[in-house]
Amino acid sequence: MPRTSTSAASEAAAFRASLGAWYSANGRHRLPWRLTRDPYAVLVSEVMLQQTQVERVLPYYEAWLARWPAFAALANVPPAEVIRHWRGLGYNRRALNLHRLAVRVVEDHGGRLPESPSALLALPGIGAYTASAVRCFARDEPVVVADTNIARVVARARLGLASQREASGRAVSEAAEALLPPASARDHNLALMDLGAIVCRSRGPECAACPVRDSCAWRAAGFPVGQSQTRPQPKFETTARFARGRIVDVLREAPATEPELAAMLPPRHAPKTPEYLAALAAEGLVVEAPAGHWSLPV
Ligand code: ADE
Repeated sequence: MPRTSTSAASEAAAFRASLGAWYSANGRHRLPWRLTRDPYAVLVSEVMLQQTQVERVLPYYEAWLARWPAFAALANVPPAEVIRHWRGLGYNRRALNLHRLAVRVVEDHGGRLPESPSALLALPGIGAYTASAVRCFARDEPVVVADTNIARVVARARLGLASQREASGRAVSEAAEALLPPASARDHNLALMDLGAIVCRSRGPECAACPVRDSCAWRAAGFPVGQSQTRPQPKFETTARFARGRIVDVLREAPATEPELAAMLPPRHAPKTPEYLAALAAEGLVVEAPAGHWSLPV
């Protein structure tokens, strides 16, 4: 841990105290994945919450845990069933990776999520963010968790920048590290996350409602603007991700041949069906079944 001066340490403590008081009154304490310390449940929630809104995740999370309450239950079903259940959440690879991870946890770790960061990072689908989220939210380890909300709050309040896009990941991590409390890092990180989601929003932050406005470096710097946030995005229906998602949607119902799949894609995508199937097969999301049919992996 870097050496910090007494004044920096007390300033961080004051920041945490204001943030903590705000969180007690305003935090999203009832989110179901915050009411558990079960590493499996926390992991499922974090994977679902990647790239997906909280409101959308809620019913999937509840149904998933009711159906597969532990790694062993998930590892016991064919991947096709898991992919079917993911319908509507998007980024289907997450479902496949969760299933692969469950199989590995059962086979190599006796059904319990390993503790060491390196063993966690070696599991399918677990990157630096997910590993720290599980360590922090399931085990209350004092680690930096830098999801987009937390990174934005830290970039603004501590580095004086409009967003994390203006800073290196390392600068954000170091600034977040300097704020970590000696104990209860879980509540601290959840509080930062909620401050970013509720007050220090990407667009239209509500600075008047912010508990740390008096020490905010972005405010002190006069709210410098950052790079444009709105990079032009292609229409979703024109992307390969859309077409691959449609193919998986069809195969969730029943196996199909390549011409059948091509026929249900919009004309611009149809000629690329073999390419999409090859990419999906390479990821393990589809397999070539007998008689020229394609299906989900069984
Ligand atoms: N609580 C714990 N992790 C979360 C996340 N990734 N998003 C929203 N709330 C959370």
